[in-house]
Amino acid sequence: MNQQQPKRKRGVILTDQGFQKLHTAKCQAESQENSDQRYTLEQLSLRTGLDPDTLMKVFRCQVGVDQRTLNYCFQAFKLRLEQSDYQLPPTGNSIPNPESQIPNCIDWDDAPDVSIFYGRRAELGTLEQWIIGDRCRLVTLLGMGGIGKTWLSVKLATQIQEQFEFVIWRSLGNAPPVKDMLAHLLQVFSIEPSIHLPETVEGRISLLINYFKKYRCLLILDNAETILKEDLSNFAHGCYCSESEFYSQFFKQVGETSHQSCLMLTSREKPNQIKRMEGKKLPVRVFHLQGLQANEVQAIFNTKGYFCSSNIEWNQLIERYAGNPLALNIVSTTIQELFDGSIAEFLKQDVVVFGEIYHLVKQHLNRLSEVEKKITHWLAINYQPVSFSELRSQISTLVSPQQLLEALESLQERSLIKKTSSQLINKNATLFSLSPMIREYLTEQLAANKISLNIQFSKQHQTIPQVLREKL
Ligand SMILES: Nc1ncnc2c1ncn2[C@@H]1O[C@H](COP(=O)(O)OP(=O)(O)O)[C@@H](O)[C@H]1O
Ligand SMILES: [Mg+2]
Repeated sequence: MNQQQPKRKRGVILTDQGFQKLHTAKCQAESQENSDQRYTLEQLSLRTGLDPDTLMKVFRCQVGVDQRTLNYCFQAFKLRLEQSDYQLPPTGNSIPNPESQIPNCIDWDDAPDVSIFYGRRAELGTLEQWIIGDRCRLVTLLGMGGIGKTWLSVKLATQIQEQFEFVIWRSLGNAPPVKDMLAHLLQVFSIEPSIHLPETVEGRISLLINYFKKYRCLLILDNAETILKEDLSNFAHGCYCSESEFYSQFFKQVGETSHQSCLMLTSREKPNQIKRMEGKKLPVRVFHLQGLQANEVQAIFNTKGYFCSSNIEWNQLIERYAGNPLALNIVSTTIQELFDGSIAEFLKQDVVVFGEIYHLVKQHLNRLSEVEKKITHWLAINYQPVSFSELRSQISTLVSPQQLLEALESLQERSLIKKTSSQLINKNATLFSLSPMIREYLTEQLAANKISLNIQFSKQHQTIPQVLREKL
C-alpha cells in the first residue's frame, strides 16, 4: 500500500505567548523609534539580519524555522527566547481545520483589559452567530456612551480570535483621516512581501479589501461616532464629516463586496451608509446594546465593596441609569464614599446626574439637531410617557409630523428615548419617554434657566414636575 509517512517535523514555530512577546516588542519599537509607523519588511530584515521570506515564516507561525532564526528575531528586539516561546509546527499530514486556525496576527492597539467582565452571554452569543455562523461582513454595535460597547467588542474578539488570521482593534477616538487610518491598517499586513502603499484613498481601500478577500480578518473600529457630523440640523444625522467622507465609501465597499472578513464598528450613532445596507438577514447588521442586568450590576458593585439594599432599591437604581455600567460604576463609588454603601440613602437624595455622568449626557445632547432639541425639551417638561399622536398634536406648531418621525427614530437609535407600551389606556399604543438620565439632566437645565423654554405649556398639566411648574 502506498501509505504516506508523516513528514519529518522541521524547525520550530512561535507559540501564542512567543508571538505576543515579539509582536508587543515590535510595536513598542515602532512607537519609540519609528514615529509610530509600522516597520516594513525591509526595515525588519535590516534589523534582524534575516531575509524577508524567513521573516514571513516567523510571523505567520505555520511553517517551522531554525531555532536560531527565532533567536535573531528576539535579540533584535532585546528579548530572550525561552522554551515556552516556541513549539514544533503541526505535522505535515494533519488536515488543517479552517475553523480552528491559530491567528497569525493580533493587534489590540489600545484596547482595554477586559479580564473582569460580567454577563453579556446572550449578546456574545448573537454576535458570534452573526460573525462566525452567518458570515456577516459588517456589524455595528450601537448604544449610548458608557453602555459597554468597547468592552463587549474586545471580549467578543478575544473569544473568536482563533477563527481569524488577522485580528485588528483600533479606536477612531480622535477621528483620524481615513487615509492615515487605512495606512496604519495596511501596515499590519506588511509581513506580506512587496507591500506598496497606494497614494489615493480609493487605492488603499481596494488594497485592504484584497486582504479581506485573501485572509479571514476581524477588524474592529471603536468610537465610529467621532467621524460623524456633530450638531446637525435638517436631519443630516449620521452623515460624515467632510474630511472623513471616504469612511462612507470604505464601509460601503466592506458591506457590499464579497470577501471572507468582518468589520465591526462600535458607535453612539448609526452611520447613514449602514442604514442603507443593513438588514436582519443581510451581511450588514446592527446590534442595539442595552444596559446590564441586575445580577451583573450587583457583581460589579461587589468588586467595589459592601452594599445594603432591598431588591426594589436595586431595581430602582439600575432603572435610573438604564443599566449603564459606566454610570453605575461612578454611582457605586459615591454610594460607598458618602452613604456607607446604603443604596436607599443615595436614592433618597434624588440626584441622578452628576460628575462624569453629567458630561456623558451633555456630550450626547450637544449632538442633537434643533428639532431633536425641541422634542427632548418637550418630553422633559411633560415628564410622563406619551403616544406619538399626543406628541404630534402637542408640538404641531414647532415640528412637522415628518420631522417628528425622523427625530424620534434618530433619538431612539441613540438610546436617548425609550419606547414602552401603554397597558392602561390602550394596549396597542406605543409610548415615548426620555431615558431617566436625559430627563433628569434636562429638567435641571430647564429649572435653572440654562436652556430656554420656548414651548407653550399649560400650568395645570398634571405631569409637569414641581420644579418646572413655578417657571411656567
Ligand atoms: N460586561 C462588563 N462587565 C464589567 N464592567 C463593564 C462591562 N461592560 C462595561 N463595563 C464597565 O463600563 C465601562 C464603560 O464601558 P465601555 O465599553 O467603555 O462603554 P462604551 O464603549 O459603550 O462607551 C467600562 O470602563 C467598564 O468599567
Ligand atoms: Mg467606547
